[in-house]
Amino acid sequence: MPKLLKGRELAGRVRSDVAESVLRAGGRPPGLAVILVGQDPASETYVASKQKACEKAGIVSVLRRLDTDASEGSVLRVVSELNADDSIDGILCQLPLPPRISPSKVAAAIDPDKDVDGLHPVNVGCLWRGEQGLFPCTPRGIVALLAEEGVPLDGASAVIIGRSNIVGKPLAAMLLRENCTVTLAHSHTRDLPALSRKADLLVAAVGRPGFVGPSFVRPGMTVVDVGISRTEEGLRGDVDFDAVADTVEAITPVPGGVGPLTIAFLLANTLTAWKRARQIS
Ligand code: GUN
Repeated sequence: MPKLLKGRELAGRVRSDVAESVLRAGGRPPGLAVILVGQDPASETYVASKQKACEKAGIVSVLRRLDTDASEGSVLRVVSELNADDSIDGILCQLPLPPRISPSKVAAAIDPDKDVDGLHPVNVGCLWRGEQGLFPCTPRGIVALLAEEGVPLDGASAVIIGRSNIVGKPLAAMLLRENCTVTLAHSHTRDLPALSRKADLLVAAVGRPGFVGPSFVRPGMTVVDVGISRTEEGLRGDVDFDAVADTVEAITPVPGGVGPLTIAFLLANTLTAWKRARQIS
């Protein structure tokens, strides 16, 4: 069996550290606003988990719901209200949005100091320039998990499959900061299995259950599975776990691997935004 990289344990620790910092600092509690457009069932589940996690950490969570047919203008108006609200430290707009609403326009409208998803162009720029900012939660969780588990990154070859703004691209920037040599692969990449097999670290973030099979891996490799899809057989990752487990050195399970870290680092980003707003270091 490979080593199992269980994010659940690290996530629990990050969440209790956030709760402790909130308690210790006292005063006005941190506030997180979540904008939810429509009633996508997966988004409903994520948002409910985020709210519950906030409550446990002493963060006030505010849900702003809009109808499925809400206009882009109405979403942008909610964003400006929240930008101006001093009780709100973090704002996130749950994705995916209906096709009529531009996720990049919404991200660019959020005050960069409240952008806990790290999608505002200023935060994206800070990440690539190696400066301070608020950065996307899932890739932050992945890098923290790899550090925690002692996976060597300096000089390692990392292949990331998937070039989304929320996972693949920011993770590429973060691994570059850790001195990895990064290849960002995607659906047009030629001979993906051969490319993947050369990696020391393989990250799958494509949202296609079981996409990464035995032809993508080699002994000694660490595999991070970001995918989580609901299938008839239950929750499945992007990696065919049973087919690669005998070969690889270490792998994140699904569920219980990367998933729990996203919410933990959302709380951590909210704490950071709150501290900065109150000038606590
Ligand atoms: N939908 C799925 N994951 C995420 C996330 O990390 N942030 C937002 N805003 N929406 C999501």
